[in-house]
Amino acid sequence: MVSGPSLSPRALLHLLFNGARAVDVVQAALQMGLLDALERGPVSLGELAARHGLIPGRLYKLLDCLESLGLVRREQPSDALVEARYTAAPGLRAAADVVLGPGSLERDRERYAWRALRGRLPEVLRGAVSVPAADFAWPPSTPEQVASFEASMAAGLGPIVEAFRAHAGRLWRDGARLLDVGGGDGTLAAHLLEQRSGLHATVYNLPATEPLVARTREARGLGARLGFTAGDFLREPLPGGHDAISFVRVLHDWPAETARALMRAAHAALPPGGQILISEEFRTPERLAAQFFWSYLLMGVDSCVSRLREVEFYTSALRELGFQGIEVLPGPFEIVVGIKR
Ligand SMILES: C[S@@+](CC[C@H](N)C(=O)[O-])C[C@H]1O[C@@H](n2cnc3c(N)ncnc32)[C@H](O)[C@@H]1O
Repeated sequence: MVSGPSLSPRALLHLLFNGARAVDVVQAALQMGLLDALERGPVSLGELAARHGLIPGRLYKLLDCLESLGLVRREQPSDALVEARYTAAPGLRAAADVVLGPGSLERDRERYAWRALRGRLPEVLRGAVSVPAADFAWPPSTPEQVASFEASMAAGLGPIVEAFRAHAGRLWRDGARLLDVGGGDGTLAAHLLEQRSGLHATVYNLPATEPLVARTREARGLGARLGFTAGDFLREPLPGGHDAISFVRVLHDWPAETARALMRAAHAALPPGGQILISEEFRTPERLAAQFFWSYLLMGVDSCVSRLREVEFYTSALRELGFQGIEVLPGPFEIVVGIKR
């Protein structure tokens, strides 16, 4: 939101009811390039209308919609409509791109079986209705589910890749060997290898993901630098022989005791001086909002706990396990780092 007090329950519910129209408004503003001008703002209604060939009185109403969503701030120095000046919330253009643009994360999620729950939440909460396992199981159970889920994950990696890029100099020494636990289809590992020429990475994941990692290796021309180890971290220890072990968006899928057991397994597998890296859906208002879809769908999937936790859960668990030099590296996705002594 641009400024001011948070919305009252009633205001929020009015906006929610008008969600489809709100998305239409933001989508149109994005497509017409209005968001760029508004983010550079302040820009007057007159200038904006003239630049884009729009009728001022109509544009005013579209901007009222954006203002009611808290996405633009308005100043009205005189009675003249065209003199109203607008400024967008910082980051609006990029956010609209991620949520509504061509690679929209939310549109991608539409294809999941959330409709099995719509209108039936009381029965879902009582356990009488679930998402059919044939439509979505956790972990994904058919080759189609695996491919579809890992593709969704890979599509959301942008900010995580940026976070790792920003800290690449700090994270990797030349020749380092990384084990990316629950590393999806290898897309993150591929980005890391492209960011750092001396790095080697192995994806550790369920056997069904092997063809996906092979495809990533092939498509990105990574050869032996991108390895794969098939395994099930619920049933066996993590493999040794790596200088760093990462968990990226993996630990929140599991109850606290499993998440702790996985961090303990990483501690056991690392050599002295080895690093653990955790980048997670930490519990912040922003992440809870971005996770809304999964919170909804997973009400009908008991095997995935979907437990967003504060970053302190991870830092204190690492401390208890004896990791040292624990830091939370800032970025679009924070990276928690700990070193095994
Ligand atoms: C939420 S996805 C995150 C994928 C990837 N790290 C990312 O951020 O895009 C969780 C990953 O954990 C893997 N996974 C789930 N259960 C597992 C298990 N028992 N053993 C190994 N990997 C598992 C899934 O296959 C999936 O790749």
